[in-house]
Amino acid sequence: MNILKEFSLKPYNTFGINVSAEYFAAFSTINELKELINYNPHTNSNKFILGGGSNILFTKNVGGLVLKNELKGIELIKEDTHYLYVKAAGGENWHQFVLHCIKHNYAGMENLSLIPGNVGASPMQNIGAYGVEIKDVFESLEALNRQDQSIHTFSTNDCEFGYRDSIFKRKYKDQFVILNVTFRLNKVPAFNTSYGAIEQELEKMHVKELSIQSISQAVINIRSSKLPDPKIIGNAGSFFKNPTVLLKQFKSLQNTYPNMPHYINDNTHVKIPAAWLIEQCGWKGFKKNDAGVHAHQPLVLVNYGNASGEEIYDLSEEILQSVKNKFAIELEREVNII
Ligand code: FAD
Ligand code: EPU
Repeated sequence: MNILKEFSLKPYNTFGINVSAEYFAAFSTINELKELINYNPHTNSNKFILGGGSNILFTKNVGGLVLKNELKGIELIKEDTHYLYVKAAGGENWHQFVLHCIKHNYAGMENLSLIPGNVGASPMQNIGAYGVEIKDVFESLEALNRQDQSIHTFSTNDCEFGYRDSIFKRKYKDQFVILNVTFRLNKVPAFNTSYGAIEQELEKMHVKELSIQSISQAVINIRSSKLPDPKIIGNAGSFFKNPTVLLKQFKSLQNTYPNMPHYINDNTHVKIPAAWLIEQCGWKGFKKNDAGVHAHQPLVLVNYGNASGEEIYDLSEEILQSVKNKFAIELEREVNII
C-alpha cells in the first residue's frame, strides 16, 4: 500500500482549501482499510475518512492518516414484485451511481441527480434534494467498526435519519466506516415533480411524457443554473441548514417581516430558508479577500481562489452572528468543519 507523507488535500476537497495530510492513503478493498486503520505511523493515531470532499471545510492541516475511500462496485442483489435492491460500494461516485440506476430504469433516485460526493457519505447526512432524501430509497448499509474491525448492518431505523442528519453524525461520529449502501428502488416509478421549479423546467424542456430520465435532466438543469460548479468556484453546497422555528416565534417574526418565505413543517414548527435570512442581513455577493457569499445563492459560501479554511469559517461565524442578532435564529452549519 502506498502511504504518502505531507500530501496536499487541495484537489481532494471541493472548497479547494490548500491544507495537507500528514499521511495519506487510498483503500480499494476492506482488507486494505483494516490494515490502514491499524497502521500508526507515529504518535498521532487520528484516521480521517475522505469521500469526495464535498461536505467538508478544512481549517488546518490534518494530523495522522487521511484514508480515501475507493471501494468500487454496483450490484443488483435481489428483486421482488415491486422493488429492486441495488448495492453500491462506498467509493462509487454518487451522481454516476444515480445515472447507472436511471439507465437501468431503477426508479427513485432521479430527484437526487448531480449531488457531488460518494455513495459512502450519502447516509452521513441523509442527503436530500427536490423533495427526496436517501432515507426514502434506503434499505440498509454495512459499516466497519473502527475499534474492533467488525462489520455491522444498519437498517433505516438504526440510522436515525433526520433532515441532513443521521446517527453517524452524532452518537457514532468517527466510529464507523460506511462500506456499502443498499437502495430499494421502484420497478414502477412514482414521479415526484411537485418540488421547486421541476414542473416549470419540464415545460421548458417540452417534455410530453414524464420519465425518470426527464426528471433527472430537469433537476440537473435547475441545479446547474443555481449552484456554483466547484470545478470553477470552490464551495461545499449549502453551508448552513434551513432552520426550523416554533410557530409562535414565526408569527411574531412575520409581524415585522410579512414577506418572510416559509414552509409549514407541522402544527407547531415552520422552516425558514436560510438563504433569505442571510440575504436580509446584506451578505449576498459579499467578498472579503477570496472568501465570499455566492451572488445567486447566499446559502453557499465560496472560495474564489486562495481563501483559507479559517477565512471561510470566520465569515460563516459573522453570518451566523448577524442572523442571530437580527432574527434571534441560530443557524446550524451543514458542512463538517475539520
Ligand atoms: P466528504 O465531504 O468526503 O465527507 C463528509 C463527511 O463524511 C466527513 O466527515 C467524512 O469523514 C465522512 N465520511 C465520508 N465518507 C465516509 C464513509 N464511507 N464512512 C464514514 N464516514 C465517511 N448535499 C445534499 O444533501 N443535498 C444537496 O443538494 C447537495 N448539493 C451540493 C451541491 C454542491 C455544489 C456541493 C459541493 C455539495 C452539495 N451537497 C449536497 C453536499 C455533499 O455533496 C453531500 O453531503 C455528500 O454526500 C458528501 O459526500 P462526500 O463523499 O464528498 O463526503
Ligand atoms: N432564497 C433567497 N435568496 C436567494 C436564493 C434563495 O431568499 O438568493 C430563498 C427563496 O425564498 C427560495 C428559498 O431560499 O425559495 C430556497 O432556495 P432554494 O430552492 O435554492 O433551496 P435551498 O433551501 O437554498 C435546499 C437544500 C439544497 C437542495 C435544495 C433543493 C438545505 C440546507 N439545502 O437549498 O441542498 O439542493 O434545497 O432541494 O436544505 C446542500 O445540502 O448542500 C444543498 C445544496
